Amino acid sequence: MLTLIAAVSADGFISTGTGVPWHLPRDITHFREVTRGQWLLIGRRTFEEMLGWFHDHHPLVLSRDAGYTPPLGQAVPSVPAAIKFAQQASAGEIFVCGGGGAYAAAMPHAERLIVTHVGTTLGGGVPFPAIAPEDWRITSTTAHPADADHAFAMAITTYARREGSALTLGATI
Ligand SMILES: NC(=O)c1ccc[n+]([C@@H]2O[C@H](COP(=O)([O-])OP(=O)(O)OC[C@H]3O[C@@H](n4cnc5c(N)ncnc54)[C@H](OP(=O)(O)O)[C@@H]3O)[C@@H](O)[C@H]2O)c1
Repeated sequence: MLTLIAAVSADGFISTGTGVPWHLPRDITHFREVTRGQWLLIGRRTFEEMLGWFHDHHPLVLSRDAGYTPPLGQAVPSVPAAIKFAQQASAGEIFVCGGGGAYAAAMPHAERLIVTHVGTTLGGGVPFPAIAPEDWRITSTTAHPADADHAFAMAITTYARREGSALTLGATI
């Protein structure tokens, strides 16, 4: 199973260019808990931003550069290649951790989305792919109001791909 995990502004962006544009400790804790010890698929740019953060993870780094060797984990040229690699390693699930390029490439292969909807707009930047209501249904959502440690309210929402919605199966490629 492929799951996208992201924090997305109310107007659909994950970043204004570099880095994550908010500091939300509760979302960081949530992200750490969900991804602990897991197989991750990450775009090369985000991987380089997050270096030093990985501990017990298995990062697969998406890159078109055939000569690229990440300092840890494994480079993969495509999402189907990542799925194949993880299957051969008997991994049950891959969490796609961004950024925009990786989310866009992985969305057609995903069966689940875990999206922290952040109560602010960015007005532009790196987009998250559209979550089409005909393809995705909400299975759970938990709202968190803004407080002294969180400048913005947020809602952590899980989506499951609807039955009948076209899923691109990596294993067939
Ligand atoms: N809000 C959030 O939840 C969140 C999460 C993660 C990241 N972010 C932010 O997102 C931004 C980065 O996003 P981004 O879109 O610029 O970069 P990215 O997706 O992290 O990395 C882009 C790189 O990944 C590789 N790549 C992308 N699509 C590919 C494909 N289909 N096949 C093969 N390789 C592919 C390419 O690497 P090569 O150049 O090596 O070929 C490309 O240059 C940062 O600001 C980061 O902080 C936000």
